[in-house]
Amino acid sequence: SIQQECHFLTEAYALQQGKPFNAQSLINSAVSNIICCLVFGDRFEYTDKQHHMILQTFNELLYLEGGFWAQVYNTLPWLMKWLPGPHQKIFTLTQNIIDFIHIKIQEHRESFDPSSQRDYIDCFLTEMGEMKDKDSGFDLDNLKICTMDLFGAGTETTTTTLHWGLLYMIYYPHIQERVQAEIDTVVGSSRQPSMTDKEKMPYTDAVIHEIQRMANIVPLNVARMTNKDTVLDKYKLPKGTLVLPTLVSVLRDESMWETPHTFNPQHFLDREGKFRKREAFLPFSAGKRVCLGEQLARMELFLFFTCLLQRFSFSAPAGEPPTLEFKLGGTLCPKPYRLCAVPR
Ligand code: HEM
Repeated sequence: SIQQECHFLTEAYALQQGKPFNAQSLINSAVSNIICCLVFGDRFEYTDKQHHMILQTFNELLYLEGGFWAQVYNTLPWLMKWLPGPHQKIFTLTQNIIDFIHIKIQEHRESFDPSSQRDYIDCFLTEMGEMKDKDSGFDLDNLKICTMDLFGAGTETTTTTLHWGLLYMIYYPHIQERVQAEIDTVVGSSRQPSMTDKEKMPYTDAVIHEIQRMANIVPLNVARMTNKDTVLDKYKLPKGTLVLPTLVSVLRDESMWETPHTFNPQHFLDREGKFRKREAFLPFSAGKRVCLGEQLARMELFLFFTCLLQRFSFSAPAGEPPTLEFKLGGTLCPKPYRLCAVPR
């Protein structure tokens, strides 16, 4: 699915004919389509109005959830639920997405064949049919929420990382050229990159890791809560304590990285130019609640990134020098910028 989507994405970039454009929206559609294939069994065309509407709703929702009014609501829910404000829109937008998912589930139910499961919804419906235990969690409401979770967790994160990746490439053209040289040597231009190429491409792999380290898209991680009294090192955390294991503290740890605040792919290369793992590289967090989609996200990052750089050279439009400034919403993302994708 990812390789097929890479093909559609590069074709859509080619249509821009090297003129300046904002690459975010097309990346967003392509990345979302991977989740769509898994969950709904099919992708959407990039021109599909319904898909655009859902993506826009998600983007707005995540932005509002990361904003000031959502924090006020979380602190004083008993008061804020009665007051107007942007936090109220979070509930309307969430309901719009759930309604859309509900229609998709209905469509699946109408054409459901238990002997041939097409996607996540079909598998969940099968479990719902087989599970007699009401507390198993396999019910319609949970199916809607889990589907929404996969979209929420899997689309914005990977899109934002790739968007940072292209920004770093136009900011550091010499690094872009080195990645392209490695793609040309290992993959060439007559076939698409595949996952088996990755181990022969240590420099590209190092660049993608460094993009994730510097992009630092979820600096505060996801909030968790202790479900029993817990001792962590010298700290006692009573049951019910909110825990934010901040990722920026490891991704920019001054005792772990040679140049913690500078984009430097050498962080992930040894003296012989081979890829080296780093203990403090934890953009997907760690432990029991580590990102469920880590393996999928790694595949997407490698394939989308290499396919794009195989086909195009990216540069900043004349008079629009790139900046690495960020905008904080649901994730930490680049400020809107345009680039030119010139076919190679
Ligand atoms: C570059 C892309 C991604 C990054 C940086 C990322 C990062 C994270 C982080 C930091 C967490 C919180 C872990 C914790 O609480 O300790 C998380 C959770 C999660 N992620 Fe990702 N993620 C990415 C892509 C994806 C994708 C593609 C999916 C789709 C399947 C996904 C699904 C999830 C889910 C379901 C959770 C919740 C897991 C749980 O609560 O047990 N993520 N992710």
